Amino acid sequence: MRKKIIAGNWKMNKTVADTSDLINALKAKLTEPKAGVIVCPPYTSLALAVELAKGTPIKVGAQDVSVNDDGAFTGEISIGMLKAAGCEYVIVGHSERRQYYKETDELINRKAQKVFASGLIPIICVGETLAERESGITSQIITGQIKGVLAGLTPGQMETAIIAYEPVWAIGTGKTATTQQAEEVHLLIRTLIAELYSPETAEKAVIQYGGSVKPDNAKELLAQPNIDGALVGGACLNADSFAAIIDAA
Ligand code: 13P
Repeated sequence: MRKKIIAGNWKMNKTVADTSDLINALKAKLTEPKAGVIVCPPYTSLALAVELAKGTPIKVGAQDVSVNDDGAFTGEISIGMLKAAGCEYVIVGHSERRQYYKETDELINRKAQKVFASGLIPIICVGETLAERESGITSQIITGQIKGVLAGLTPGQMETAIIAYEPVWAIGTGKTATTQQAEEVHLLIRTLIAELYSPETAEKAVIQYGGSVKPDNAKELLAQPNIDGALVGGACLNADSFAAIIDAA
């Protein structure tokens, strides 16, 4: 059985001081979590988060990475820097990066390759917009994104990667996909992985759901056969609610 993995995407929230408060509060609550736990703070808090999480079940991830290794790319952070800071995971292709920074499947794929080449694990995001869902083209959009972001990844990489399905209309809106809507897309993604790789690889792939996951809806979502965890935004900024979602897994 696949182990559930709950990741918290802090987005652009929390100072260094807030980071130590939140991680220390989480440490107190998560002595023996039944699920994998990843926190993804902003870059400025990564080294501290790694330090505080040492010897605990909490793993640390970044929210993005540059495709370049070093040089004149003002504002960017390289995979080498993330690795040196002690990160083990990197979110790539979050819908906010797609929307505000015009990231494409092709660029996201290059980022995922970069993450793997350094021995870290990407959390690769896909998801349709409200307009796309309402036009009835959700499967088409997800199929295109999955093929694009996974291009060239080996079966071994696919089995280690985390895919996050985050319907854009459910992010930060308080609207969650119904369990049925979420499960339907998760099953589609697993079927695509089976076609692109093999049924065995698809069986091992971890597919998280993201979009207004809260303590009160986590249990039902995480009980679906193809939902292997959650990528949590708002509710991960508070130790009580993030721990409650981890407990629900
Ligand atoms: P919310 O949980 O705030 O909807 O955010 C989801 C998300 O975008 C996680 O990456």
